[in-house]
Amino acid sequence: MGVTEGMSFEFSSATVRRFAWASLVANAAIIVSGALVRLTGSGLGCPTWPRCSDESYVPHGELGIHGVIEFGNRLITFVVGIAAVLALIAIWKSVERTTFRMRLALFVALGVPLQAGIGGITVLTGLNPWIVGLHLVLSVVMVALAAWLVFDLSAIYGQVNSGTSRLSIAAYTVLCASIYLGTVVTGAGPHAGDSGALRNGLDPETWSKLHAWSVWIFVAMMVVLLWRVRTDPAQNRAIAVLVLSLAQGGIGYAQYFTGLPISLVILHLAGATVVLIAATWFLAATAKAETRTSARFVS
Ligand code: HEM
Repeated sequence: MGVTEGMSFEFSSATVRRFAWASLVANAAIIVSGALVRLTGSGLGCPTWPRCSDESYVPHGELGIHGVIEFGNRLITFVVGIAAVLALIAIWKSVERTTFRMRLALFVALGVPLQAGIGGITVLTGLNPWIVGLHLVLSVVMVALAAWLVFDLSAIYGQVNSGTSRLSIAAYTVLCASIYLGTVVTGAGPHAGDSGALRNGLDPETWSKLHAWSVWIFVAMMVVLLWRVRTDPAQNRAIAVLVLSLAQGGIGYAQYFTGLPISLVILHLAGATVVLIAATWFLAATAKAETRTSARFVS
């Protein structure tokens, strides 16, 4: 941080990066804390919204540990919001300011009140599984935007040929689809967030298979991409995405065959967040295609 000529205040580039990282970590952390709410059956620990109960904004004795866990997750929203606003202000007031970075930081910041509202709808609909899924999907989008912001501030964009760039975008789209399918499997499964909450009525086995198949399509595309970027600096990122995805797939099968123990389900969600971040960085490193000079312009 520093004060420049004319007393205008400016954040240093290092501070901007720290705030961008803090926003990414906070958005990733609330995915895991939200999972804890669901997996401990605390989804209706505060039975209404925006108050915790009809009488009070904060949990009281009768609501027990579930009230404390659900309310704790509501409080983490403020941490995510503060981190997002700090990142936005820091970029705005620094030499790092670009329209693209301002947009990324603004979307992350605007996502916080949106998510608070959707969290409220989740409670008010008695944990409707499609709304719970949407709530997670929006957090996934916020993590992806925050991750791209960190990349944009810290890493250099590569330029690959247009075939590789298109395949990279396609692979990322498949990953997003498999994450969505994961939320559908969760909506069909036993961890509803409350013993009285409805399930989506789909067959967990069929949808788990569809989810797993989409992951293998993504893995196959990443193998091709690894070969295509073998001489490019993005190679290490491709290796990271592949190794993390295989480990995440291993956790997926382990939880599927052991009856979805809570510890593995949390690990699977944390793993999904890490895979998403790594894949976003790979996408950022490969999404840009080389601009070829057309033959007729070459003298
Ligand atoms: C890159 C690999 C993978 C990613 C990114 C991923 C991501 C996800 C996500 C985001 C969810 C939703 C969690 C929630 O709604 O709270 C999920 C659920 C699930 N995934 Fe995966 N997954 C992957 C691989 C696999 C594989 C290979 C399997 C094997 C069958 C699997 C089995 C499951 C199951 C059973 C659930 C439902 C858990 C529950 O009911 O709580 N996953 N996954």
